[in-house]
Amino acid sequence: MLEKIIKTADFLRSKGFTDPEAGIVLGTGLGGLTTEIDNQIEVPYAEIPDFPVSTVKGHAGKLIFGDFGGKKVVAMKGRFHYYEGYGSELVTFPIRVMKELGIRALFLSNAAGGVNPTFRIGDIMIIDDHICLVDNPLIGPNDDRIGPRFPDMSVPYDKELIEKAEAVAAGLGIPVTKGVYLSTTGPTFETPAEYRFFRIIGADAVGMSTVPEVITARHMNVPVFAVSIITDLGVEGKIEYTTHESVQQAAEHSEEKMTRIMKELIAAL
Ligand code: HPA
Repeated sequence: MLEKIIKTADFLRSKGFTDPEAGIVLGTGLGGLTTEIDNQIEVPYAEIPDFPVSTVKGHAGKLIFGDFGGKKVVAMKGRFHYYEGYGSELVTFPIRVMKELGIRALFLSNAAGGVNPTFRIGDIMIIDDHICLVDNPLIGPNDDRIGPRFPDMSVPYDKELIEKAEAVAAGLGIPVTKGVYLSTTGPTFETPAEYRFFRIIGADAVGMSTVPEVITARHMNVPVFAVSIITDLGVEGKIEYTTHESVQQAAEHSEEKMTRIMKELIAAL
């Protein structure tokens, strides 16, 4: 795999993706951050060697390089999901390429259902831990040049970045919460019993992404920061009919606030 990673990174360097400091992955309805990236170079996923192609509406499917918060960044507008039929290893291939390009930290966002009964739609939840109920992307032979066979997961989300993000949010007057994100395979949203189960086993929010990317980044010792935008509630009495469009709309509502937090956080890297 290392050879493929290097080949893809070399291709992107030849397009001008030189020395990004931060990697960004934008979830459903959260791609608007990219309008604030200056001096953009864009490459559609379809043109990138060995990249899968995003098949989901609302996931534009391109890699963007440019300046954000005064730093060089590489951003995925649209990510890959296990439910699209790609294995976890392929879903997370772009994270490996970002690391090869030189990122020092990875910033992720997603839309998620809130199972913590205190949550409201539109809340911004900083992820401080996770539960992985999707295939682990590290299953298979391990390449010791990339990372260890048995990576530690005692601190999956960087404590310093979380503290900084809380300070940044407070400074901007944006309320944030913290919590545990649980990843499912999707593509179904949860039944009421599944939401209840996820709450009982310790989740605050549930979604179909992010955790494989976090595991891959931690395998390579890349510090991670991640946020969920709560787009619907999996709480008894508050469960409503959920569609991809309703999730997108709710996410777009909080997108600007999330973007402001990410920008200051990356500026402070
Ligand atoms: N469940 C799973 N994934 C999601 C949800 C949800 O309620 N909302 C947004 N993504």
